[in-house]
Amino acid sequence: MSEDIKKGLLGIVVDETEVSKVMPEINSLTYRGYAAQDLCAACRFEEVAYLILNKDLPNSIQLKKFEKEEKDHRELSKNLYEIIKHMPKKSHPMDVARTAVSVMGLEDKETSNSSPEANMRKALRIFAKTPTALAAFYRIRKGKKIIKPKKDLTFAENFFYMCFGKVPQREIVKAFDVSLILYAEHSFNVSTFTARTITSSLSDIHGAITGAIASLKGPLHGGANEEVMHMMRKIKKPENALKWINNALKNKEVVMGFGHRVYKSGDSRVPTMREYFGKVAKIKKDRTFEKIYDIVEKVMIKKKNIYPNVDYPTGPTYHLMGFDTDFFTPIFVISRITGWSAHIMEQHAANKLIRPLASYKGNKHRKVMQLNQR
Ligand code: ACO
Repeated sequence: MSEDIKKGLLGIVVDETEVSKVMPEINSLTYRGYAAQDLCAACRFEEVAYLILNKDLPNSIQLKKFEKEEKDHRELSKNLYEIIKHMPKKSHPMDVARTAVSVMGLEDKETSNSSPEANMRKALRIFAKTPTALAAFYRIRKGKKIIKPKKDLTFAENFFYMCFGKVPQREIVKAFDVSLILYAEHSFNVSTFTARTITSSLSDIHGAITGAIASLKGPLHGGANEEVMHMMRKIKKPENALKWINNALKNKEVVMGFGHRVYKSGDSRVPTMREYFGKVAKIKKDRTFEKIYDIVEKVMIKKKNIYPNVDYPTGPTYHLMGFDTDFFTPIFVISRITGWSAHIMEQHAANKLIRPLASYKGNKHRKVMQLNQR
């Protein structure tokens, strides 16, 4: 290789951001300067969504207005409900989310207006509607009646309600809310970078979020929370965990939910999510996955010095809450829409077309032969 290639853009700083940072001095992911775990302790997800989108925490009047707007936009068009009804039942819900946001782009009157004000309004509409679209598909594929959103419920409560027809106890809703806060934003990860790259050609927010959802689906990114659950199911019982993980390491397998491009000695979101995973396991009186979790984690740290990322505790937590495994990454989507939107607006505000170079290693120049001569 003649040129200095940074595969995967490893270690490359491509732009500036004000949205979030892993601050080494406090060893924590921060949103607009606030540690994510402090936000989990003090705020509901709606407050954090406001913070990410509007650069500061809301006061009570601002929060009320923001929540009202979010609730007012939860409902889908008849057309979108019909499209979701006609989607193949076996579709992955990430593909449903991707298609639903794309359709929202067809229906939105402001699609081609990328002014800061229009982008903020569109971000809010995508944020409010995507959970409804996902929950509608959740019900339809089970042959159940769609449950329309309810305005007297919070963002998290409403998602449970639309999926299951009821809101679980407060502690479960809080654990879900915490997971949404922890998933909301993480700087230039692959899906956010995808959204920024799409935006850099001055394309629109619906397109950028559609692309970001496709990017998040992959098992090396958001899809890992589903893979964690598949792994735990394979392990089945705590008694099998040690043998399973030792085998996996012997076979040089990638163990899902471990490792991170940025955190090399532990993801700062994990202790908070681990705590809430424990609370949910206690409420559900099912500690099987918690025991498996601890054994696999211990071996990964001891033998590989590789720590869990946030997908490791969220996977089994969502399972215990009753969600189907293929809905874990879509839950990540409904939260990360906030981070993506903030980055899309940031990209628009100081845009430069993203266009890296590649080191060419294909054929030397060749002459084109006529079809009858090839
Ligand atoms: N299991 C086993 N080995 C691992 C793991 C893992 N989960 N993660 C890293 N390693 C090993 C690699 O095999 C590699 O070893 P080597 O140097 O002997 O070849 C070394 O650690 C460095 O790993 P890379 O993959 O080169 O590190 P990178 O920064 O490129 O990858 C990634 C980070 C993709 C997240 C990786 O750790 C991984 O594949 N993890 C599993 C998938 C996952 O959990 N993704 C979720 C990320 S968090 C999120 O998106 C919310």
